[in-house]
Amino acid sequence: MKHLFTIIILAAALLASCSNPQVSSPDGRVTLSLTTDSAGQIYYQVDVDDSTFIAPSRLGLTARDANLASGFTIRDVRHSSSDSVWHQPWGENKEIRDRHNAMTVSLDNSDGVGLTLSFKLFDDGLGFRYSYTVPGADSIIVTDELTQFAIADSAVSWSIPANFDTYELEYREMPLAAVATANTPMTFKTRRGTYASIHEAALTDYPEMTLRCTAPGVFKADLAPWPDGVKARYAGDRVVTPWRSVQIAREAVGLINSPLILNLNDPCVIDSTEWIRPMKYVGIWWGLHLGVETWQNDERHGATTENAKRYIDFAADNNIEGVVFEGWNSGWESWGGRQSFDFTKAYDDFDVTEVVNYARQRGVQIISHHETGANIPNYERQLEHAYAWCDSLGIHYVKTGYAGGIPGGHFRHGQYAVRHYRSVVQTAARHEVSLDVHEPIKDTGIRRTYPNMMTREGAKGMEWNAWSSGNTPAHEVTLPFTRLLSGPMDYTPGTFDILYTKTRHDPRRRKWNDLDRGDSRVNTTLAKQIANWVILYSPLQMASDMIENYEGHPAFQFFRDFDADCDWSRALQGEPGQFIAVVRRAGDRYFLGASTGYEARTLTIPLDFLESGRTYDATIYADGEDADWRDNPTSYRIDRRQVTAADTLTVVMARGGGQAVTFIPAE
Ligand code: NOJ
Ligand code: CA
Repeated sequence: MKHLFTIIILAAALLASCSNPQVSSPDGRVTLSLTTDSAGQIYYQVDVDDSTFIAPSRLGLTARDANLASGFTIRDVRHSSSDSVWHQPWGENKEIRDRHNAMTVSLDNSDGVGLTLSFKLFDDGLGFRYSYTVPGADSIIVTDELTQFAIADSAVSWSIPANFDTYELEYREMPLAAVATANTPMTFKTRRGTYASIHEAALTDYPEMTLRCTAPGVFKADLAPWPDGVKARYAGDRVVTPWRSVQIAREAVGLINSPLILNLNDPCVIDSTEWIRPMKYVGIWWGLHLGVETWQNDERHGATTENAKRYIDFAADNNIEGVVFEGWNSGWESWGGRQSFDFTKAYDDFDVTEVVNYARQRGVQIISHHETGANIPNYERQLEHAYAWCDSLGIHYVKTGYAGGIPGGHFRHGQYAVRHYRSVVQTAARHEVSLDVHEPIKDTGIRRTYPNMMTREGAKGMEWNAWSSGNTPAHEVTLPFTRLLSGPMDYTPGTFDILYTKTRHDPRRRKWNDLDRGDSRVNTTLAKQIANWVILYSPLQMASDMIENYEGHPAFQFFRDFDADCDWSRALQGEPGQFIAVVRRAGDRYFLGASTGYEARTLTIPLDFLESGRTYDATIYADGEDADWRDNPTSYRIDRRQVTAADTLTVVMARGGGQAVTFIPAE
């Protein structure tokens, strides 16, 4: 620690002597200053409310045959301000304000390398990116990124450990000083009470950034490498990185309400986006994870024509727009082995034409499924053909998956994979297909540029409850403050048979996952499952359970009434890992979701978000008086009453519980 302070003081002394370009947020609370030291190394510092928030921290990259790290002199500094409103076809909020001050700093070094550093300061945080030019180079091999985040104050943090292959890890709450590595978004709250989250935006052709501790509270960018250890490679003489972002807020929910990540992305490049529509869906899925059905074409095959029609009927009869079928195509015998899936060849008991025609007649959208097993070469060989085939059948949604290792020793989060995921988004866009990506590259807000990149997994989702010790009661109240800051998640909430009473002793059930100890269950109350449909935002929102568990269940009315195509959202109250309350408006309906972690909790929520002067029929899906996530998870009650914007709701939640409310204008 002593060593760190010496470095910081030394750096600060060196920096003080140099020119010091600065830019502040429009409200003046956040200020970033840039400095170079006597070796021409570049540093930035961030102050919040006149206190140092990020102490002088290094900027730059290193490359094999070019000096991208030192010898720099500032040549030019430009400032600009912008205040605009833009719209997106779907999202938590369809209208977004982008108000920021920008600073563009041009530097060059003795080796002739040109560097443009772009900074954008918003009231809710900041972003910066590098753009290098190496004159005469025909390729650039990036070997490291030097970006540092030296958090000046002590803090408590929420993150998952860095991992170049998976995000499906348990969140940890721990002192920031104890974090050795972290994936982003990494969220923290300082001793002074500022909430912040480090992440990245517009990851286009670069590896993902993780964070590695170099001294307590000081983190350095650690990029997912290529198999040969190189971090990024480019043909030509330019490197443009994603934005490095730091969201900053006075309240924890301020991070959720911040559109900073989207504001750091490029505008939409798809001319017409009418075909990109949010929807609710069900599917042949949960039975596979519970082990009572299989993906493969055997006697327990889930995706049969008959079963598909049953799901289509259920969707049509319950105001659900979409259906996914997993295990419809050949190749599942090779899952975990050669991973040789065929994305246009159905199993012989799944008649694609019949299913597609039936869905069309019933007005239901099909979400096709492409499990690639992470065999990217196999997928890329079929990509164009597979998406053209979907297009020709009128299939406009595909769920992809990468459960397996990428051939050739590539990391799932390295530049090779980032390029692949992007090319799938672009191919899908050309064929008017929207995507739900499992085992994805993390979200960095590219949905603004490609709104067909609708939702993704990228964290421990519902599936872990089917075949492992599952997700803790704290997990789903941590996600909104961490993973979901990056964008929507296909968590797939809504399992009603929480203790698997209907399937646990089913003679068809077989263990298929090594983590399955036979005691899996969902670690929430039923009301929290319902609340999660609102809280865990996804424009494609699934009701995860097998449809037989919804048939005749009074609480399923919530999902029937729910609208995944919201116009406006607001996180109202919450603390990471403890509780959360979110409201969304879709048309003239409002949906409220509140949930709690391990503790029972009562929230007082003013209904002033409702349109004033209007009366609403509120239907309240609450924990039963004796509900408890561990001992009595399925106890719930449904209350109805009329409310207005002048009312206040008292939300009583059991341990591991929640509450969901629909507000529908009274006639
Ligand atoms: C993992 C995905 O997250 C899950 O949704 C899917 O069912 C399996 N892979 C099989 O593709
Ligand atoms: Ca997964």
